[in-house]
Amino acid sequence: MRRQLLSTRKIWLTISLFSTFAASQSKRGLGDTGGTQTSDDNLLLSANSPISWYFTWSLYTSQYFNDSISFVPLIHGLDDASSDDLATNLDSLPVSSTHLLTFNEPDGTTGSGGSSISPKDAAQSYIDNVVPLRSGDGRTWNISHPVVTGSSQGLDWLTSFNESCWDIDSENGCPADFVAVHWYGDFAGLSWWLDQISDFYNPSSTTTGLKLWITEMAIPKKDEDDTISMLNQSITYLDGLDDVEGYAWFGAFRADKANDWTGDNVSLFDDDGGLTELGALYLGGKDNGFEKGMKGEGNDSAAVSNAVSMWAVGVAGLAALVVGMW
Ligand SMILES: *[C@@H]1O[C@H](CO)[C@@H](O)[C@H](O)[C@H]1NC(C)=O
Ligand SMILES: *[C@@H]1O[C@H](CO)[C@@H](O)[C@H](O)[C@H]1NC(C)=O
Ligand SMILES: *[C@@H]1O[C@H](CO)[C@@H](O)[C@H](O)[C@H]1NC(C)=O
Ligand SMILES: *[C@@H]1O[C@H](CO)[C@@H](O)[C@H](O)[C@H]1NC(C)=O
Ligand SMILES: *[C@@H]1O[C@H](CO)[C@@H](O)[C@H](O)[C@H]1NC(C)=O
Ligand SMILES: *[C@@H]1O[C@H](CO)[C@@H](O)[C@H](O)[C@H]1NC(C)=O
Repeated sequence: MRRQLLSTRKIWLTISLFSTFAASQSKRGLGDTGGTQTSDDNLLLSANSPISWYFTWSLYTSQYFNDSISFVPLIHGLDDASSDDLATNLDSLPVSSTHLLTFNEPDGTTGSGGSSISPKDAAQSYIDNVVPLRSGDGRTWNISHPVVTGSSQGLDWLTSFNESCWDIDSENGCPADFVAVHWYGDFAGLSWWLDQISDFYNPSSTTTGLKLWITEMAIPKKDEDDTISMLNQSITYLDGLDDVEGYAWFGAFRADKANDWTGDNVSLFDDDGGLTELGALYLGGKDNGFEKGMKGEGNDSAAVSNAVSMWAVGVAGLAALVVGMW
């Protein structure tokens, strides 16, 4: 058990003094695994839903969400980064897209949804392909560092990545505007992991922190009450942190589409497309008019899952190994 709970929480120091202001732009988002039905999507997009952004683990919007909520593209691996189509793909995105994620779990294996990239190769590609998107002639983006698994292995990878960045470009390293974070585990672990990331990027309390986006988080294989409690504590905590601009629970799918590693209690929808208690809570609960069992309008019959959903099912896989090691 390498997990340690720090008593000094730098991240707490930056809790927004303007929480009413911050609340006007919801941080809540979702990872679209492609397996949701029209009725589920309609509910997630309904007028009182706090969901304000989404991503698809790719550069492509979901046909259904399109630009109804802001889309955050992700350059998944080296091939995406060096593709001749990268600029064209990014240029074609809705104007509401302002943030760009890079390299999904490069310290993880492709079998678990990771991109399996050495820190050195990632640094070279980041400098060649990603940094120019930050302040070039064309459309510019707020860019994130690669998002590693929530583990000591992830932090080691980021350390090596940073070294390579400065080896390659001794003037600038690998600049970023925000840092994307993954966490699978309990709430104490999440707050601990955010502290680790925060300390890594802002070792001095006088430096201005990079903003954080928790693009995947869940507590795997717990019973319903523990899962609800983890979600409840996490969203309350994250909503109060000024450093955190966005977060997405994993995941926005039906229970029968959950992967074996997370277990089905992380699902926002039951097998029939009704909200789970967890799902109702994520949408803001009774205050926003959401209750367990509620369904969205439209076709709720199970669609044949597409390639994206099959693929995303493996996304959390590596973290299983890593958390297991702790
Ligand atoms: C998605 O949004 C873009 C930009 O607003 C628009 O050009 C495109 O037609 C939309 N696509 C669909 C399928 O609605
Ligand atoms: C970066 O994000 C901020 C909002 O957080 C936005 O105002 C700004 O325009 C973005 N920058 C770019 C280059 O899109
Ligand atoms: C990255 O490396 C540079 C140069 O060695 C160092 O100054 C900086 O503190 C490192 N940053 C992080 C986040 O480790
Ligand atoms: C989900 O929760 C139920 C009851 O809360 C529990 O019986 C079941 O074992 C949980 N499933 C998993 C995969 O943990
Ligand atoms: C969530 O936590 C708050 C306290 O922070 C509590 O009042 C509320 O009942 C909790 N909701 C659920 C569904 O557990
Ligand atoms: C509902 O979705 C199913 C599965 O995708 C499809 O076969 C069916 O035609 C749809 N029904 C309507 C009314 O759109």
